[in-house]
Amino acid sequence: MIGRTMTLLLSALAFLSPPVLHESGAASIGPEFTPSGQMRFPERYREWIYLTTGFDMSYDPGMKMGHVFDNVFVNPEAYKAFVDTGTWPDKTVLVLENREANGKGSINQAGNFQGHDVTVEVHVKDEARFPGKWAFFAFGGGKQPATIIPAAADCYSCHAQHAAVDTTFVQFYPTLLPIATAKHTLSAPYLKETP
Ligand code: HEC
Repeated sequence: MIGRTMTLLLSALAFLSPPVLHESGAASIGPEFTPSGQMRFPERYREWIYLTTGFDMSYDPGMKMGHVFDNVFVNPEAYKAFVDTGTWPDKTVLVLENREANGKGSINQAGNFQGHDVTVEVHVKDEARFPGKWAFFAFGGGKQPATIIPAAADCYSCHAQHAAVDTTFVQFYPTLLPIATAKHTLSAPYLKETP
């Protein structure tokens, strides 16, 4: 009980203090932006909560690409709130990391493993900053700050029309879907599409 009160107190304090700089080595507490409104690269996302890996996922039945894995991570504060409520709090940062799939290497004889070629996309909730509450950013393979993807892009419409919770694809995040189901936070479009 004391432990939980302490945790609550500490997280309340964390929100009151200014964001910790990535360079300092402490974990980020949320999204960070440049004065001109670009999003800074979430340097420590590999230390966040892992949600899933998709393999060769495609929205276009005719599309054939090289093999690719995508890994999804979320900042720990948002994850904890999701476990409690079944939906995402303000300052949620979801990272989609796309990695090339390799077949040949070392002793591997069959199947695929993840390679070094990587691109990063982010879906971030910042209610005061974005009129639609959420925004997408694509960092490509670099770590330079990224410019917001305009609201007319298909990222927004596909996520709004098909994603299970608050425009995020929780139906593909196996540890989160049961939570959202139990808390009745599944979106109307998703429920309509799901038999
Ligand atoms: C036609 C539908 C569709 C479009 C268009 C689309 N996405 Fe997604 N997106 C998905 C699916 C499906 C997933 C789940 C991936 C998985 O399970 O590994 C996803 C997951 C994500 C995630 C992980 C967090 C979340 O919201 O679930 C990010 C970040 C993301 N997409 C960014 C983008 C960006 C940036 C664009 C536009 C350039 C885009 N997406 C366009 C279907 C779409």
